Amino acid sequence: MNRDQQRARRAAVQSLNRLAQAGVTHLGRPTTDALLEAESPLEPAAEEPVTAGADCLEIVQADVAACQQCAELASTRTQTVFGVGNPQARLCFLGEAPGADEDRQGEPFVGRAGKLLTRIIEACTLTREDVYILNVLKCRPPGNRNPLPDEVRKCRGFLNRQLELIQPEFICCLGAVAAQTLLETDLPIGKLRGDFHEYEGVRVMCTYHPAYLLRNPSAKRIVWEDMKRLMLELDIELS
Ligand code: URA
Ligand code: URA
Repeated sequence: MNRDQQRARRAAVQSLNRLAQAGVTHLGRPTTDALLEAESPLEPAAEEPVTAGADCLEIVQADVAACQQCAELASTRTQTVFGVGNPQARLCFLGEAPGADEDRQGEPFVGRAGKLLTRIIEACTLTREDVYILNVLKCRPPGNRNPLPDEVRKCRGFLNRQLELIQPEFICCLGAVAAQTLLETDLPIGKLRGDFHEYEGVRVMCTYHPAYLLRNPSAKRIVWEDMKRLMLELDIELS
């Protein structure tokens, strides 16, 4: 698909999602006289369910909230952390997993690393409401340990459904776990960052995680280089 086709597809998917969210489960075929004449002698087509069973973010969110696939995570979490922002965003920021603050508040990137991410987004002349922010894992790993491969595997379907519904043009992976999970690679973040990758037709920039920047402030300069590259492709002018 070219860019225009991708835009048209996104717009159509978004329209159908809005209809589905409004409770529409069937779309009839057009039955204007002109169309019937044009198609004569065809009989008017029967109503076809085109949005029946259509997914929407609210359904994915409810499925996430009810998930018990990882016994340890389900029994230690305060709540699941789904995602936040503009469901029609052109740009998604993908993190690793909720920490203690996110587990308490139910929103991704609200702790110290999250406040730094907010400042990075604002330096790009955007707000948290312009973009969509989500994580690979929807539950906090106890003690902030790294997600286990099995947990990542079990949570992957939720991430895929979120991205299919949002249909972003760009995904910015924050840190190695997000980058390696999305791109299904073992390459280190230092090798993945700085250039665009491709995931299901979406352009992917990888950069260092804001928590890493809190420990290594000198890497902020590199992240800013990655953001400048990303904003250039988004056609967002930085002052
Ligand atoms: N501008 C927006 O409004 N949203 C994005 O996600 C990116 C740029
Ligand atoms: N780190 C992440 O990767 N995600 C969050 O939501 C918070 C911290």
